[in-house]
Amino acid sequence: MRNNWLKSAVFYQIYPNSFNDTNGDGYGDFRGITQKLDYIKGLGANAIWLNPHYDSPFMDGGYDVRDYFKVSSRFGSEEDFDEFLRTAHAKGIKVVLDLVPGHTSEQNPDFLKSAEPVENEMYDRFIWTKGEWDFPQGFKAISGRHNRKGNYIVNFYSTQPSLNYGFNRVDEPSWQMSYKSDAAKKTREWLKSVMRFWLDRGCDGFRVDMADSLVKNDGEQGEKPATSELWSEVRAMLDEEYPDAVIISEWSNPQSLRAGFHADFMLDHHGKPYNLLVRGEEEPDTYSYFDANGRGDAQKFAEGFSAWYNEVKDNGYIALLSCNHDTPRLAPFYSQEQLKLVYATLYTLPCVPFMYYGDEIGMKYIKDIPSVECGFGRTGSRTPMQWSMGKNAGFSDADRTFLPAESDKVVNVEAQTKDKKSLLNFIKSLFAFRKSREEFISRDLEFVHAVGSEPLVYRRGKLLCVVNPRSVKATAPVVIPAKAPVLFSEGKPAKPKKDGLEVPPFSFTVFEA
Ligand code: GLC
Repeated sequence: MRNNWLKSAVFYQIYPNSFNDTNGDGYGDFRGITQKLDYIKGLGANAIWLNPHYDSPFMDGGYDVRDYFKVSSRFGSEEDFDEFLRTAHAKGIKVVLDLVPGHTSEQNPDFLKSAEPVENEMYDRFIWTKGEWDFPQGFKAISGRHNRKGNYIVNFYSTQPSLNYGFNRVDEPSWQMSYKSDAAKKTREWLKSVMRFWLDRGCDGFRVDMADSLVKNDGEQGEKPATSELWSEVRAMLDEEYPDAVIISEWSNPQSLRAGFHADFMLDHHGKPYNLLVRGEEEPDTYSYFDANGRGDAQKFAEGFSAWYNEVKDNGYIALLSCNHDTPRLAPFYSQEQLKLVYATLYTLPCVPFMYYGDEIGMKYIKDIPSVECGFGRTGSRTPMQWSMGKNAGFSDADRTFLPAESDKVVNVEAQTKDKKSLLNFIKSLFAFRKSREEFISRDLEFVHAVGSEPLVYRRGKLLCVVNPRSVKATAPVVIPAKAPVLFSEGKPAKPKKDGLEVPPFSFTVFEA
């Protein structure tokens, strides 16, 4: 793998609408991000994932791209974007853009061309059924909006028509094309042209939206061979033309790395290891290990994580997130103290860490906020960054902002910068510590003790990490030398005793042992 930088990357995810508004229009902008690059660097992050920045009608927070070759004027000018890229690079920060390969906006000119009643050069760029009364099972088909005879298939919302990368299993030859057809190949070439455009402009890679959604009717039992083939072809192009660029998939499946992605998000899917660690559900068997009532099961998490990790570790990385724009933030479900333990555990596992803006100060998920731009339940994780106790939490001077800003004396950057014990300062020391030890970017991982809600103990090379997520003191039968140095801790550090470790409540300790 040529692009070694991913190995030691620490990402900060920015939802541009909500980060920093410099022109007072109520939306965040590129200049606002540029202004805060030192802040991001100060956290210990050295890479940014930027949610969609393209020209869009924002019917799905920008995941409905109207023009793939243009920035959204909402966020500033083309020059503002380039200035952001240049400044980030000058400060040693990589920038990974969001690539939306599976669908466009319904206002995308290629789609509108394909929707015309007479055959033209875009006729096969999207997936249209043959007749206007076709409603094929297993697909979302939208009818009656355009004069073309037929209905178009969408990937997500009705505003997001699916691009045609073809079908692996063709059930309806009258309208389904093979993924090997010329039309499907042309869509692939178009996709590569989008990637080249932004890579030539200077970005360092892409987070790939719904990466597994491209070829339809692809494979049985979760394997997606034709979609994988497509991504292998894209990876070969990158290796040849842009060897330092990375692609990181929203797929959440080890096959993504076999297909050519450098890293893949382990997402908040029901019963999967990430949930079993931090995002339990109110159902037996799926409580998380961090459940304060001790209903979680470290063993289940450790087994699931190890199996996944063993499948991917030779091919790439697991990306682990604090949250993202689709997921409820972890606060208020955890207190600031608990969040320290959660982040410490997540980011000392073998992974590429992703910190969602605001999670470093414990911004809260806002439950019943009215939906904006079809965020629905996700809207509560997209509220403005809380910089201070000033107007709109220091996010904007506008009288009305994209989403209302929360004002909170504790949860803002200014207050937490001053408070030595804040979550923000903890994150800085956690990332600094992580950076100081090669073990954390090595492939070594061994779960030493993972039983029920007892302290979880895992080894990264010479380092032994011990976490107790509960409010009661506990022990773990792991014997280490009495004088093993404590390199990092939160809460009272664990103590080596003759017959094992004594682990204080709500604590995290790293020993050299
Ligand atoms: C991804 C994005 C999400 C978007 C969807 C459709 O899951 O993260 O925000 O709505 O894809 O593009």
